[in-house]
Amino acid sequence: MTSITNKNHTKVILVGDGAVGSSFAYALTLQGVANEIGIVDIAKDKTKGDALDIADATPFSYPKSVFSAEYSDAKDADLVVITAGAPQKPGETRLDLVNKNLSILKTIVDPVVESGFNGIFVVAANPVDILTYGTWKMSGFPKERVIGSGTSLDTARLHKAIGQELDIDPRSVHGYMLGEHGDTEFAAWSHLTVGGLTIAELRKTHPEFTDEKLAEINDQTVNAAYAIINTKGATFYGVATALARICKALLRDEKTILPLSVHMDGQYGVNDLYIGSPAAVNRNGVQEIFEIPLSEDEEAKMKHSAEQLTKVARDGFA
Ligand code: 2OP
Repeated sequence: MTSITNKNHTKVILVGDGAVGSSFAYALTLQGVANEIGIVDIAKDKTKGDALDIADATPFSYPKSVFSAEYSDAKDADLVVITAGAPQKPGETRLDLVNKNLSILKTIVDPVVESGFNGIFVVAANPVDILTYGTWKMSGFPKERVIGSGTSLDTARLHKAIGQELDIDPRSVHGYMLGEHGDTEFAAWSHLTVGGLTIAELRKTHPEFTDEKLAEINDQTVNAAYAIINTKGATFYGVATALARICKALLRDEKTILPLSVHMDGQYGVNDLYIGSPAAVNRNGVQEIFEIPLSEDEEAKMKHSAEQLTKVARDGFA
């Protein structure tokens, strides 16, 4: 690939101008990390309107241009971010969306690749682990340059819940939700720390952190999206902000470790699957996957999560 290292001008193409996409374009604009943000969608009036509207925010932030784009504009982009797809409705799981969204994905990845795009795909449409795998397969890109938002939002939700329990800044919680971005994900409690303390150590001063409490926090985190979808019909601000964070880490060559959907080559005993794990990312994509040595119980959960995804992937790609 042409390395995007040393490139000062940064361009992001967003495909999918629904609630998640437009919230992401806005969040990215406020973060001020991309010079150009192009928005692609079949709803042209919407992309034109959103581009004009978000461009009005640029004098307060940084991007030089926010515009309604075509697939051909991906040619010299650094990132193509995919949020397009049918959203989860009340009563649906993320995995229920697989066939619909894989068909939509094909109509996106092909023209992006045909444009000559040579950057990094970042996928957020659901089921994100399967669609990231699909993007990798359809594009023929190296696995390092195809990334899914994975459990980044779920991990933020976990940090928020623990921060609220302890009345501390969620950014002082270190630990991850792992596995599928969906019903089988789980908190890796064995490696979670707060202020350097493991859960076992934290219990000395916070006896309220019982196993029941941890199970409750885990379940709330797994079901957080349902709680939102059941009220307002969709989630978008959380995922959009997580996505902007990922893009910032990529564009700024941060080498930050984030919980993302990345391609497994034997890590956690998982092969040929995209699933949520901590990974360091830089301007060229995935720099390194960090495999957490899990407890026996967590290992079983990771295995179950991978099996679920494999089953869906097998059907989706049959
Ligand atoms: C979320 O977790 C629905 O995947 C979306 O908010």
